[in-house]
Amino acid sequence: MDRLFVNLGANSYDITFSDRFLSLADELKKINAPEKLLIVTDTNVEKLYADDVNELLNNAGYNSSIYAFSAGEENKTMDTILGICGACVKNGLDRKSMIVALGGGVVGDMAGFAAAIYMRGIDFVQIPTTLLSQSDSSVGGKTGTDFMESKNILGAFHQPKLVYINVNTLKTLPEIQFISGMGEVIKHGIIRDAEFYEFIKNNPEKIKSLDSETLIKMAKRNCGIKAEVVEEDEKESGLRAILNFGHTIGHAVESAMNFTMTHGECVGLGMAAVCRIAYNRGMISEKILQDIENVMTSYGFKVKENIPDAKTVYAFMQKDKKKANGKLNFVLPVAIGEVVRVSDVTEAEIFDAIDYISL
Ligand SMILES: NC(=O)c1ccc[n+]([C@@H]2O[C@H](COP(=O)([O-])OP(=O)(O)OC[C@H]3O[C@@H](n4cnc5c(N)ncnc54)[C@H](O)[C@@H]3O)[C@@H](O)[C@H]2O)c1
Repeated sequence: MDRLFVNLGANSYDITFSDRFLSLADELKKINAPEKLLIVTDTNVEKLYADDVNELLNNAGYNSSIYAFSAGEENKTMDTILGICGACVKNGLDRKSMIVALGGGVVGDMAGFAAAIYMRGIDFVQIPTTLLSQSDSSVGGKTGTDFMESKNILGAFHQPKLVYINVNTLKTLPEIQFISGMGEVIKHGIIRDAEFYEFIKNNPEKIKSLDSETLIKMAKRNCGIKAEVVEEDEKESGLRAILNFGHTIGHAVESAMNFTMTHGECVGLGMAAVCRIAYNRGMISEKILQDIENVMTSYGFKVKENIPDAKTVYAFMQKDKKKANGKLNFVLPVAIGEVVRVSDVTEAEIFDAIDYISL
């Protein structure tokens, strides 16, 4: 079994990589999981995997049951959190019981947050089933929910006890969700690891055909990069902000498009935009700019899209700015594998970048 150790002192845990669920019970035994488990999932993943996982756990001697909430970011609400907590009460979970988050980033964030507040905090494990959650969101302990039209505004840092990745779950993932997740994968290469970037660049066919061995290798490096950053800066007071590469403009595009595009598609546009800013500043060459855009395009991203005008997108950025001490922070590439954080990008540079990604 491939595994990685996330070293966070008392909050450390393993991430395991497989192409099946078979070893899940053994991995739970290794962390001394309690008998009482609640699998929290969404209605899509429930149909695909919840019964198999539940049966596997009950056969291994656990007392496990399933709670599913309606799939989709629009259900990332406090009401859903209360629904999960209600299921914990109804199923008799106590302080020693454990939540098993089975699903994408929405499930992981919500089940993790419910675990953080139920009885002042119980343990949980992550079984991520989307590319985004297998590459990014299941590692790092950020949990939470959207509230009053603000994304992830309520939440807690609550690290899982284990992350169990079965890459074969990606075989049922809709293509648009796979492309969306590739945004985070490409991002990891650009911000931290030139060798990994080359691997992504040179293997689009193997990756897109969901070859298990290739996916495990990719997941392992993705989680390794996320873990390294989180180990250095668990609570996002510094370095962890580099994970926001492409997000400043990406988030604004997402809002300006009224969430009709996936998060990953918008982050992809945001990455193209900040690369343009870096190119205009002479920080990266035209060759690197073109290379990044070619890699993104090879995975189905559009680096130019029919989006609202620069003024409208910029207005949404101002809203985000209020949440970040009044500053617009950007992460810009200086080379493949290396980025810097800046807060002096001018309005003119931003307008040019938004025009650049507009059709
Ligand atoms: N905690 C963090 O560090 C962090 C980081 C990045 C993003 N996020 C959060 O992650 C969320 C997005 O996550 P996501 O992209 O995984 O979205 P998601 O959880 O909504 O999943 C996308 C869709 O795929 C379905 N699905 C999941 N697994 C499937 C499978 N194997 N086969 C078929 N369908 C499947 C889901 O039901 C859903 O309809 C956002 O809410 C974002 O805020 C959190």
